[in-house]
Amino acid sequence: MKKGEKGILVVIVVVSAIVMLVKGWNVSQETEEDPGIPFYSTSTKELASRASALYRKYDCRDCHSLWGIRNAMQAVPAPSLDGIGSLRDEKWLFDYFSATNPQSIMPSRLKPQYRMPSFADVPEADRRILAQYFSSLKVEDWYLEEARKSEYEKLTGKEFE
Ligand code: HEC
Repeated sequence: MKKGEKGILVVIVVVSAIVMLVKGWNVSQETEEDPGIPFYSTSTKELASRASALYRKYDCRDCHSLWGIRNAMQAVPAPSLDGIGSLRDEKWLFDYFSATNPQSIMPSRLKPQYRMPSFADVPEADRRILAQYFSSLKVEDWYLEEARKSEYEKLTGKEFE
């Protein structure tokens, strides 16, 4: 390689490095404005791990999605549980899980086999953990309307006005 060619190569490398740096800097500036994921939990680690064991044990994930995760086999249009604690409080959740007929608390538009089952027969301590944990799942204020809307649409099958 001639001396002149080497010089050109160095210039190209330096220029592209600058371009990449500036671009990278812009990208990081953009992500700072990204409001991010609107869901969070106020639960302790211990409560979260006990609740997630129950969530698996009682097959809640067969029908619901949580943290945006949907089971591939999931066919039921059940409401997502992300941010549910901003829509329902702990007492409501405990009563709902304890009802022998949850549809007496909240009617269903679905075929019986897809409806929210009764968990009245599971130990009270488990129902308390579930109610406590799900009431800790919150949604940021800027996404609250969106969460209400999607819950309404899942529950009624109608568009939110
Ligand atoms: C067979 C499917 C199925 C299973 C299993 C199931 N659910 Fe549900 N769940 C539903 C459906 C569907 C609804 C909406 C009401 C209805 O149609 O009965 C619902 C409603 C709810 C609601 C109220 C949501 C809202 O928008 O107010 C909560 C909370 C909930 N379920 C939590 C759970 C938990 C916790 C478990 C496990 C212990 C569980 N579900 C298991 C189908 C299910």
